[in-house]
Amino acid sequence: MATRTPVIAGNWKMNTDVESGLKLAKGIAELSGAVGGVDKIVCPPFVSIASVAQALAGSSIQVGAQNVSANTDGAFTGEVSTSMLQSLVSHAIVGHSERRVLYGETSVQVAEKAVAAANAGITPVLCIGEDLSVRKLGNAESFVAAQLEASLSGVTDWDSLIVAYEPVWAIGTGEAATSDQAQEMTTVCRQVIRSLAPNAADSVRVLYGGSVNSGNVVELLAQPDIDGALVGGASLKAEEFSKLIAAAGAS
Ligand code: PGA
Repeated sequence: MATRTPVIAGNWKMNTDVESGLKLAKGIAELSGAVGGVDKIVCPPFVSIASVAQALAGSSIQVGAQNVSANTDGAFTGEVSTSMLQSLVSHAIVGHSERRVLYGETSVQVAEKAVAAANAGITPVLCIGEDLSVRKLGNAESFVAAQLEASLSGVTDWDSLIVAYEPVWAIGTGEAATSDQAQEMTTVCRQVIRSLAPNAADSVRVLYGGSVNSGNVVELLAQPDIDGALVGGASLKAEEFSKLIAAAGAS
């Protein structure tokens, strides 16, 4: 089986301004810059990407965007293209549940974004996950499998892909999935990848996201199919985020 370098990615969401974002990035670099054996990524808001990228240039901390347009350029007010981001970021989150739920993003659009990002040399961090009603009905596995398959439509660059299983009910609630639940669902994600690209299934990193913190990260990362974490709230404090990085580096 391929060895998969763990990933800790921080999704700052719509938090921080340019000044506090810069401070946070520098704090993370100071505390975690020397930690090896883990891919470390911060995803600031668009307005901070340039300054954070500049501050982290030459460090081991990578920068990601929280979203990206599937279109190349033109009349798309408020959107940000891959070519604008190309020189600044290595990764882009696509299909976060907040974008799916609040802004009506469909899996078709998510797949287009993932393809656009990969074509520009930006690794998509593609999010999928069920909400509470789906889980209560016992349909989490089939829902996530279908959502992931649809969100991977047209994806061919399996070397440039990270998948993040993020149950909607665990995001920002303080109630993370149990390690068993997260393992079960990341296995489902890997099965979907295997069905689409048998050779890639053992090398694509599959992350868990949803209320990850320094108290639960070790157990989550110990699961064989969980290759890291996509982190919201706990990524906004340099010390806490660095604990997650340290745990992943040691895992
Ligand atoms: P959370 O967010 O860690 O605050 O639950 C995770 C995410 O939305 O990526």
